[in-house]
Amino acid sequence: MTRLKGKNIWITGASSGIGKAMSIQAVRAGARVILSARNKDKLEDLKQQLENVSPGSTVIIPMDVTKAEDISKSVQIVKDTLGKVDVLINNAGISQRSLAVETPLEVDRMIFETDFFSAVMLTKAVLPLMLNGSGGHLVAISSMTGLFGYPMRSAYSAAKHALRGFFETLAIELKDKNINVTIVYPGRIHTDISLSSLTKDGSRYGIMDRAQEKGIPVEKCARKIIKAIEVNKKQLMIGFPEACLYYVKIFFPALFYNIAQKAGRIQ
Ligand SMILES: NC(=O)c1ccc[n+]([C@@H]2O[C@H](COP(=O)([O-])OP(=O)(O)OC[C@H]3O[C@@H](n4cnc5c(N)ncnc54)[C@H](OP(=O)(O)O)[C@@H]3O)[C@@H](O)[C@H]2O)c1
Repeated sequence: MTRLKGKNIWITGASSGIGKAMSIQAVRAGARVILSARNKDKLEDLKQQLENVSPGSTVIIPMDVTKAEDISKSVQIVKDTLGKVDVLINNAGISQRSLAVETPLEVDRMIFETDFFSAVMLTKAVLPLMLNGSGGHLVAISSMTGLFGYPMRSAYSAAKHALRGFFETLAIELKDKNINVTIVYPGRIHTDISLSSLTKDGSRYGIMDRAQEKGIPVEKCARKIIKAIEVNKKQLMIGFPEACLYYVKIFFPALFYNIAQKAGRIQ
């Protein structure tokens, strides 16, 4: 029996990539999952797959995480149908493929809405349920670029840094309230994230980056995240070369800038 057995786990961005893989792992661990993303068809397909593994394990609530109205409606549905959320995984996100100097502010804001404010909005809406109930666990999927800057990712990196500030602060404020917080910093994971990244005009990049294709298998990443939640890790880095770069930045800052500049030329 795992610590997630019988728990209600709400996962945003569950229609693909890391969110989808975490949903599968969570159901295998005996949890009930609430799956959210915009693409209802993909959520329905995943639900069917999960119901074959564990009947009654899956609820889908399609929503756009950037819309306050969607969030309040969805939280109400969860309250009315399940009553509680034990674990909230703020995973929905979009990346970026454009130079800061060429990217208009409105695109920066779009990235912040999806990657930062959505997690803040949903967490603030779910937190009272946890505080008034039996506690809970908040998870933020940041990025290694939430620990250091990286070329072509200015707004994305900034939004992921912001997640760290927000959720680290929450962890301190909620320390004695039976609410745990885990912040995850993945490196390159093999998902479709480069395809849906925003370019300088806000359009979809549409290319599977070579480096992304060679990234860590998404199932391995999801297993590590679910394990980290089970053992209540405060933070988790996934990806050896990126973790090394983080420590290079701390101990040899001048070297960091040279390596990151060169690495950024390979997408
Ligand atoms: N893959 C990596 O290398 C990597 C590295 C570091 C961090 N991460 C982070 O990991 C998380 C998951 O990314 P991934 O790699 O799994 O990418 P992905 O396959 O592109 O998945 C992104 C998910 O976010 C959802 N999403 C995007 N905008 C949304 C919105 N406005 N409302 C609701 N859902 C939305 C998408 O669903 P719909 O399109 O159906 O809405 C999709 O399910 C992201 O936060 C990403 O920044 C990924």
